[in-house]
Amino acid sequence: MKGKLVTFEGCEGVGKSKQITLLQEYLKSKNIQYYLTREPGGSKVSEKIRNIILDKNNSTMTDECEALLYASARAQLLKEIVKPKLDNGELVFCDRYIDSSFAYQGYARGLGLEFVKRVNDYAVSNFMPDLTLFLNLPPEQAFKRKGGADAGDRLEQSGMEFHNKVYQGYLDLAKIYKDRFVVIDASGTKEQTHNKIINALKEHGII
Ligand SMILES: Nc1ncnc2c1ncn2[C@@H]1O[C@H](COP(=O)(O)OP(=O)(O)OP(=O)(O)O)[C@@H](O)[C@H]1O
Ligand SMILES: [Mg+2]
Repeated sequence: MKGKLVTFEGCEGVGKSKQITLLQEYLKSKNIQYYLTREPGGSKVSEKIRNIILDKNNSTMTDECEALLYASARAQLLKEIVKPKLDNGELVFCDRYIDSSFAYQGYARGLGLEFVKRVNDYAVSNFMPDLTLFLNLPPEQAFKRKGGADAGDRLEQSGMEFHNKVYQGYLDLAKIYKDRFVVIDASGTKEQTHNKIINALKEHGII
């Protein structure tokens, strides 16, 4: 039997990492086997590419270069780790995946969805997840929650504009890929969001 790939998506600070930690505790308590990885990264080579992408000294990096580096890291992770595990019937969770490229490079950086799809067609044959949990929380709310009252002051307006574009991109993707996207309302408490995630995974026959 083929395994399943479930991805977590959403804007910065919406609680993906926190929810993945809560999910891990749940899966452990139920004795459900899984493999967890993240993007960009997740393999030795991909983590090195991650360091290049996230290095603040690389401020001259072009949008095209960025899109190709994300796709490179993804190609390596998929072929080296994720695909073999899926072929082995395993359940794989990934903190961000192809939709992050669509939302960030395609929508927010303005390269367009079609361009990013072309790049990822070469990298991973546009291999799509079985299920994508989109943690839905507008960036302003996420930043407020994360940094408290002064979060808005520390964020440049251009920064906020960028994150709003990412968010609009995700909302669009949720419509385009409605068969695999589950929109999870992430505005409640951590426990409320966790319960929604467990219910969605059960409803879609993942756990
Ligand atoms: N439901 C919630 N209610 C209140 N605070 C929350 C909730 N979920 C997460 N947080 C807090 O919000 C912050 C960001 O959470 P987290 O690091 O899980 O986000 P993330 O989506 O993984 O972000 P990134 O994209 O930066 O990796 C943390 O301080 C976390 O404790
Ligand atoms: Mg995180």
